[in-house]
Amino acid sequence: MLCSKILVAYDESELAFKSLEKAIELAKLDPAIEIHVLHAVTLPIKPNIYGNAFQQIEESMRTHGNEVVQKAEALLSELPNASQTYVIEGSAITALLEHAKTNHCDLIIMGSRGLSGFKEFLGSVSHSIVQQSPVPVLLVK
Ligand SMILES: Nc1ncnc2c1ncn2[C@@H]1O[C@H](COP(=O)(O)OP(=O)(O)O)[C@@H](O)[C@H]1O
Ligand SMILES: [Mg+2]
Repeated sequence: MLCSKILVAYDESELAFKSLEKAIELAKLDPAIEIHVLHAVTLPIKPNIYGNAFQQIEESMRTHGNEVVQKAEALLSELPNASQTYVIEGSAITALLEHAKTNHCDLIIMGSRGLSGFKEFLGSVSHSIVQQSPVPVLLVK
């Protein structure tokens, strides 16, 4: 068996979308393969002096996080495979590693780069996941 539960690390980048497409391609090989799509929303640290203004920023970030996974849900709904999207608050690295462990995901698919502009190296999230994941990581380029 190739894998049974794929975790797709999903920000808003083109490569994250390609990662989802790759996961779907794999899942089409076997209807028993499950897909989990995780988008981490990292809220800014809240200095108390700003009070309510920060609550509004947090609210719109949460709302936006849910919008990000809606596009993934639309694609996944066309598959016979079981799938689920997750919007998790916190660091992407911690959220991905914890989710993979708790849910026994046996393959992580993610972009080599994300949204930041630097081109040469792996992104910081992909770098840490490749280093720390106990399961195989497929980096999409
Ligand atoms: N907030 C996030 N939630 C889920 N996955 C993420 C998040 N940020 C990045 N990723 C995953 O990590 C990949 C690499 O992104 P990242 O390491 O952040 O590079 P960059 O530094 O270019 O933004 C993305 O293509 C995506 O698969
Ligand atoms: Mg990034």
